Amino acid sequence: MRAVSERFPHMSSVVEIIPAILAKDEKEFRRKIESVAGLCDTVQIDVMDGRFVDNVTWAEPRRIDAMRLSVAFEAHLMVEDPLSTLESWSASGCSRVLLHVETLENVIEALEQARLYGMEVGLSINPDTPLEPLEEALALVDVVQIMGVHPGRMGQPFQSVALEKAKALRAKFPDLPIEVDGGVAVGIARQLAEAGVDRLVSGSAVFNSGAPAKALEALRRDVDLE
Ligand code: DX5
Repeated sequence: MRAVSERFPHMSSVVEIIPAILAKDEKEFRRKIESVAGLCDTVQIDVMDGRFVDNVTWAEPRRIDAMRLSVAFEAHLMVEDPLSTLESWSASGCSRVLLHVETLENVIEALEQARLYGMEVGLSINPDTPLEPLEEALALVDVVQIMGVHPGRMGQPFQSVALEKAKALRAKFPDLPIEVDGGVAVGIARQLAEAGVDRLVSGSAVFNSGAPAKALEALRRDVDLE
């Protein structure tokens, strides 16, 4: 199979750091976006419905579209019925949606449906969800997001099973873009970069640092394996 850089020309060999925007209201959403504006290519919007995860975030596609964000964004759909939200996210200018495999009745059918909206489609997998049964579906995704924490909150400790999963996935699928989300901090980021991960999503390491620019720089240094 062709190298990632051929299949996904935008994918560089450098690990991309993606700040996670987990906001309780529009004010916090705007504050977090503004604090990383110009410092990254993509942000991840944490979409939580209080049903699939025990937290609710502010993430309204129409309002976000009206903000005309200068940064690209992906939507991490931690919701019970992600397919019902795809039309709105597509209309909002979202470039990538990440659906939790734990919320999909028929994974293949769901991914085929999700691909109709013109956005990149990824599968997100919780720490206690095994990868193996999903291998057939991986041909339909643009990225696999391995969760380093059980989703719902920022600031949780990284679960090392995510590192093992990343290594196993990379060994079996050398060209598949892999993203890890949850518990990413300096040190862990390097181990994940060495495991061949392409993108790292970070919430508390960036936003609880008091200096997002410095935190992003530290993470980028950590994943620079040159
Ligand atoms: C799960 C969310 C993550 C989380 C990341 O809770 O999907 O994006 O906000 O935050 P940290 O990096 O602090 O685990």
